[in-house]
Amino acid sequence: MEHTFDFDQILDRTRERSKTWDFRTLKPGAIPMNGAETHFACPEPVRSAIHAVADWPIYGYPYFTEDFVNAAAGYQKRRHGWDCNPAWIEFVGGIVPGIAFALQAVTQVGDQVLINAPAYSPFRSTIESNDRVLVESMLKVSAQGAAFDWEDMERKFSDPVTKAFILCDPHNPTGKCCTREELARIAELSQKYGVFVIVDEVHADFVFRGRHIPYPTVTGYAEQNSAVVVNPSKTFNVAGFRTGAIIIPNDRIHAAVNKRILAVKGISRTITGVAAFEACYDGRCDDYADAAARYVEENLLYTEQFFASRIPRIKMVRPEGCFVCWLDCSGLGFSSQKELMAFLDATGVMLSDGSDYFADGDGRGYVRMAYAFPRRQLSEALERLEQAVNAL
Ligand SMILES: Cc1ncc(COP(=O)(O)O)c(C=O)c1O
Repeated sequence: MEHTFDFDQILDRTRERSKTWDFRTLKPGAIPMNGAETHFACPEPVRSAIHAVADWPIYGYPYFTEDFVNAAAGYQKRRHGWDCNPAWIEFVGGIVPGIAFALQAVTQVGDQVLINAPAYSPFRSTIESNDRVLVESMLKVSAQGAAFDWEDMERKFSDPVTKAFILCDPHNPTGKCCTREELARIAELSQKYGVFVIVDEVHADFVFRGRHIPYPTVTGYAEQNSAVVVNPSKTFNVAGFRTGAIIIPNDRIHAAVNKRILAVKGISRTITGVAAFEACYDGRCDDYADAAARYVEENLLYTEQFFASRIPRIKMVRPEGCFVCWLDCSGLGFSSQKELMAFLDATGVMLSDGSDYFADGDGRGYVRMAYAFPRRQLSEALERLEQAVNAL
């Protein structure tokens, strides 16, 4: 069936129990561009699937079929060209729980785990709360985009206590998307130094410049020495169901990860979450994913143009994908990140403090802005920022 989508529709989300919008936490009237989520109604097939579950008057213990892994594998094959075997896949209750199970299986207490910085902060907390040691390799960030510092990466991969690397591709917060060459270089480092690679591909449907390449497809070694975590949460705006899938092609490592999941009965599937996950990934919503990515890409072009022409004192790091961008606010002239955030908080636009993205808590004058909003809300937010900057 042909669907049309109204991504311009503005929904009042303040009564939704949404972490980003809840009326008990959000300043009245503020536009929260600090949550990494879209603000579009989720696809109709998902809502129908949930209605079908909810309308029956009993919510008993769930029984699940192969439909879950088939949906997840099919999505990878159709959308990202990865010939993913359903037998490689396990349910996890979110990207971060998936990463935690993988870390527990492939590393030991006290081992070093490498990430890039800036980074989505739960990477750091899951490493540290699992008693592993965090190491960061800074991305080189400029107006042209973010790039790996290969010398530093090799130094950290080659440290004998480094046992795993968490790659975020597409990258939150900079919007960097890896090329095949970059992924192959990571696979080379992984092989040379025996470092396992865990890849967070939650933003994979939003790649605007080039296309998303699943890391395990770059070399045979990469396939056998990695775990990929995916979730329809971002693309289809279904994060509230707490679903996810971890994909591990190597049998032995797959069994070791699954043992960790089973050890805490971490098979936290629910009748609603699995219904939503399957509806998102089994082909019913592919047209929505295409349309959402197109809409968000237009938002990106609009936002880039807006900053360049109307708020040039804030420099956007050129993203290749994702629906968040990394803004260099050093041109506003504040002497501390705290002052910068106090200024931004008063604009009526909520942005994420760059300090949350580095282990040392120094935001370096950066903030992250999410831009997957209905266009009218996005332009309203940008105009508020423009006015506030002009009044400085
Ligand atoms: C890079 C990245 N990984 C994981 C998540 C969260 O994933 P989940 O929807 O599984 O909780 C986010 C959400 O902000 C994210 O940006």
